[in-house]
Amino acid sequence: MKIGIIGAGQIGGTLARRLTALGHQVSVANSRGPETLAGLAAETGAKPVSVADAARSGELVIVTIPEKNIAKLPRDVFAGTPDNVVIVDTGNYYPRQRDGRIDAIEAGITESRWVAQQLNRPVIKAFNNIYARHLMELGRPNGTPGRIALPVAGGDGAAKAVVLQLVDELGFDGVDAGGLDESWRQQPGTPVYAKDFDAGGVRRALSEASKERKPEWRATSNSPRSFENPA
Ligand SMILES: NC(=O)c1ccc[n+]([C@@H]2O[C@H](COP(=O)([O-])OP(=O)(O)OC[C@H]3O[C@@H](n4cnc5c(N)ncnc54)[C@H](OP(=O)(O)O)[C@@H]3O)[C@@H](O)[C@H]2O)c1
Repeated sequence: MKIGIIGAGQIGGTLARRLTALGHQVSVANSRGPETLAGLAAETGAKPVSVADAARSGELVIVTIPEKNIAKLPRDVFAGTPDNVVIVDTGNYYPRQRDGRIDAIEAGITESRWVAQQLNRPVIKAFNNIYARHLMELGRPNGTPGRIALPVAGGDGAAKAVVLQLVDELGFDGVDAGGLDESWRQQPGTPVYAKDFDAGGVRRALSEASKERKPEWRATSNSPRSFENPA
């Protein structure tokens, strides 16, 4: 598959490595420009490109940058991307450690619904609940007992099927976690977050999740407002 990746950090770099190794044609972008990705390109064969090109160069495009930076992407970044291209969001909202306050998420919409609104495109939520190192190292062939499973959420069944297939190729069982507005079940602080459960464990954890954000996953009165919010 032709795959674009926006973000070349822990998750973007890991996915570039794993997906090229599987034979996919990967184009990857960061914020500083393609010339800063020569090392990753030499290592993996992924093609370093601009953000605009990464958004247009795949049958599937993975957006994997810090949540607060989502709103810094051009609003029309996917304007030239055909509707049938699958957009994947790996993001998590870390108001205290990294992102500051994002009002809409604090008010209750799911993190990926907010991302979809910013990008002006439906997204599929995946890879948000596994550590990058585990994504790199812990994939196993289909059928391996105890194989780690990953929840995949989104409203478009065909797009979700593409991502579930990719999750399997990467060595993990994919679990359909429902639509985007259900994806609070896999956000930070939930039972499935960073736990490496197998498919049964993921289903159980999703069903036991609580919609209420835990205090440690909420902004405080001191949290800087992310710039995109009204003052
Ligand atoms: N790390 C994990 O284990 C993990 C696991 C699951 C999910 N996640 C989530 O996945 C997302 C990415 O996390 P990460 O740990 O991979 O982040 P990271 O290591 O900090 O890397 C972030 C990447 O995003 C790029 N970037 C930032 N702003 C950008 C912009 N405006 N346009 C284009 N590229 C931009 C950065 O490029 P420059 O370096 O050029 O600025 C960098 O390549 C986050 O939401 C995180 O919470 C992380």
